[in-house]
Amino acid sequence: MAKKHPIHFLITAGGTREYIDPVRFISNASSGRMGYALARAAIAAGHKVTLVSASDLQPPVGTDFVGVDSAAEMFAAVKKFFTKCDCLIMAAAVADYTPARPAKAKIKSAKGGLTIKLKPTADILKWAGKRKRGNQIIVGFALEEKNLRMQADKKLKEKNLEMIIANTPTVIGAAKASVEVKGKSSAWLSITDVSKSAIANRIIRLIEQMAVTAGD
Ligand code: CTP
Repeated sequence: MAKKHPIHFLITAGGTREYIDPVRFISNASSGRMGYALARAAIAAGHKVTLVSASDLQPPVGTDFVGVDSAAEMFAAVKKFFTKCDCLIMAAAVADYTPARPAKAKIKSAKGGLTIKLKPTADILKWAGKRKRGNQIIVGFALEEKNLRMQADKKLKEKNLEMIIANTPTVIGAAKASVEVKGKSSAWLSITDVSKSAIANRIIRLIEQMAVTAGD
């Protein structure tokens, strides 16, 4: 059997915060638990982890922790650490839009409505998919309401990933979850109704197998 080498993981977690003014932000319901579970599973298996986190959860022991707020900050951190990592896992729920012109001072309440103009953020996963070197492994997540496998497969190809983990919005905040996993050249695998740490362990094992093949 091939010897297991430590893998340097770059993992993102949590929902980014897009500030409207210094005290208000737009975010999403992601807790960061899946990304943290992956970080813990990787550390427990003897790997190195850089965790770029937009979550308020306590940094897992043993990770190199980088705290961020916004999608732009997360992108800057991924750019900084990407070349040195063997595997990027984008478990974060990155905002697709951010305020076009965040106010420098707290917005005062006034009569009538308030309209905030949003602009798209950069797709970090797509950026990484375009720049990866030969044996780097890139793993993405897909949160889909319907046509789970079809939509996720599209993302796998379009973003040039080695693996996609697809789930439905019911996974957000839940203790147990079910996910569908597909490698670039393998069939779909269902991991159903287990804890996020059990899912994370399975995913790290799958990536280890991929890394052995890629490095051979
Ligand atoms: N992602 C990213 N940068 C963004 C948005 C998403 O890197 N600006 C990553 C997420 O971390 C996740 C994957 O892309 O790994 C899929 O995110 P998802 O929101 O499901 O897909 P989108 O490509 O944004 O498409 P849509 O929301 O239209 O389904």
